[in-house]
Amino acid sequence: MESKLKPLELVAIPVLLALLNLGNWANAVPQVPCYFIFGDSLSDNGNNNKLVTSAKVNYSPYGIDFPQRPTGRFSNGRTMHDFIVKLLGFEDYMPPFTESEGKNILNGVNYASGAAGIRDETGQHRGGRFPLTEQIKNHKTIISRITALMGNDSAAKSHLSRCIYSVQIGSNDYINNYFKPELYNTSQRYAPPEYATVLVQQLSDQLKTLYDSGARKFAVYGLGLIGCTPDARSVYGTEGAPCVVKLNEGATPFNERLKPLLDQLNRNLTDAKFTFLNPSGSAAGLVADSSCCQTGGGGGELCLPNSKPCDNRNQYVFWDGVHPSDAWNELVAKSAYGSEKPEEAQPFNIQKLALQ
Ligand SMILES: *[C@@H]1O[C@H](CO)[C@@H](O)[C@H](O)[C@H]1NC(C)=O
Ligand SMILES: *[C@@H]1O[C@H](CO)[C@@H](O)[C@H](O)[C@H]1NC(C)=O
Ligand SMILES: *[C@@H]1O[C@H](CO)[C@@H](O)[C@H](O)[C@H]1NC(C)=O
Repeated sequence: MESKLKPLELVAIPVLLALLNLGNWANAVPQVPCYFIFGDSLSDNGNNNKLVTSAKVNYSPYGIDFPQRPTGRFSNGRTMHDFIVKLLGFEDYMPPFTESEGKNILNGVNYASGAAGIRDETGQHRGGRFPLTEQIKNHKTIISRITALMGNDSAAKSHLSRCIYSVQIGSNDYINNYFKPELYNTSQRYAPPEYATVLVQQLSDQLKTLYDSGARKFAVYGLGLIGCTPDARSVYGTEGAPCVVKLNEGATPFNERLKPLLDQLNRNLTDAKFTFLNPSGSAAGLVADSSCCQTGGGGGELCLPNSKPCDNRNQYVFWDGVHPSDAWNELVAKSAYGSEKPEEAQPFNIQKLALQ
């Protein structure tokens, strides 16, 4: 009798595996209907291209490993968000706000802008940019267009409440503001812990504005180790240490305040979910102390136009002086999407945020 079950089991196992794999099918329905991106050059995918600024990268060798070549992404290939949206099951990347048109805005839009900060003045010495306040205004424009496309206010509201809103910003408030005392007065006005408090308070107001516009699922990123980039190490010097201690110590209080803020927002705005992400990857075996391309472009930290980059690009953490490579972006995207470590994703990773 038992042996009769065997052929059935053999059929059942592949069918079960196929069902479990559904989420990976390119034409499957994405886990959330839309994904909106707010941030700086780590997320920008072309919004700065038409601005007068030294913080734009629509030139070779940027995009050398991207099908459309230079697009304005600050990478040799994809950004972290490009990887995350694929993991979520989207077929296409989110269009930059400045090039968004037609129905593709229903899946989400990327508002991020190189040199932008939480504070409006951040990055002004680099030229044009969309500070976070303006990115949120641009989102309101998109909301009106989505509402018009859907032809129904309540349907648009419901759609927007199920999207993920990704916010990764704050590095420029340090490297293109606080740590440039010859250009900005914030370091005279605030000690590092106070400055972090002021930044996180402003970010809190900005997140609440997004909430008031209908956002309910927030993925908010902490700051990385801004003192460990090849550019920071060469500009500030490290006295033999691996990183610029002053820069990292400036930014650490920001993360220490951001996490409790998101806990408070989760308690106060009970119909919304906020999660703190600080994804990491293992740099083991990768080159982490120098950039792959020849730097000197932009403010000194970007690749020189038309220079020849390294060949083994997937073995580098940093593509240019401050921005990570496609290979590193893939590692941190997988961590943000699926990590079970509370120091990397608290209380949810992106996969679980999508299910909330
Ligand atoms: C708007 O969409 C809702 C569902 O979200 C539906 O119940 C309602 O009938 C729609 N209204 C119009 C005018 O189409
Ligand atoms: C600091 O700089 C801002 C402009 O970025 C200016 O509005 C403000 O008055 C300055 N404050 C002080 C105390 O110098
Ligand atoms: C949450 O609510 C408490 C109590 O009303 C308030 O004191 C606190 O400022 C609120 N926090 C945020 C981030 O809105």
